[in-house]
Amino acid sequence: MSANTISLNRNTDQLPQDGRPVWLFGYGSLIYKAGFDYIETRPATIQGWKRRFWQGSHDHRGTPDSPGRVATLIADARACCTGLAYRVTPDVFEQLDVREKNGYLRLIRSLRLDDGSDVEGLVYIATEDNAAWLGPASEAAIARHVAASEGPSGPNSEYVLELAEALRAMGVDDPHVYAIERHLRAVLDGDNKPAYSYSQSPET
Ligand code: SIN
Repeated sequence: MSANTISLNRNTDQLPQDGRPVWLFGYGSLIYKAGFDYIETRPATIQGWKRRFWQGSHDHRGTPDSPGRVATLIADARACCTGLAYRVTPDVFEQLDVREKNGYLRLIRSLRLDDGSDVEGLVYIATEDNAAWLGPASEAAIARHVAASEGPSGPNSEYVLELAEALRAMGVDDPHVYAIERHLRAVLDGDNKPAYSYSQSPET
């Protein structure tokens, strides 16, 4: 699959033609930076999926030559991912399809809202057959990769740190995200830089 999914997503018949609002589920940047108009938002879960920093970013937090790492959802029957559901009018997808064009497919999935009700919603998921896919790595390796990446939307570290802060504020337990955050803070604070020893710098 091409890394650019705009036409694939636009060629679906998911969106009501009469302008009726739909639910959108956000689990990554869509949590900490909406950037679009919505009618309401509330915490929601998506059963059978887990959040992983396994997708490459050529256009926001990296470049085609030096991709960053961003979140996608991975199918796992035992998992449940918490994010934010937004009720939006269909025209919002004009801009969202462009924002999420780097490998994300817009799919219909069942969501559970915070009042316990189940609704159908749209969610952008990058699967492993997209050209920007990076796949699994240890959380420490992901953090080193993130620390070294930057793209037109800013440093890759900002994505991880803002998402972790937003999840914490929502009371969400996500060990994968918090482990990457912890490693990343250590890298950014210089804990992983080689320490000087006296033998390396005898004059000082
Ligand atoms: C999302 O946030 O739901 C999709 C991935 C992203 O834009 O970070």
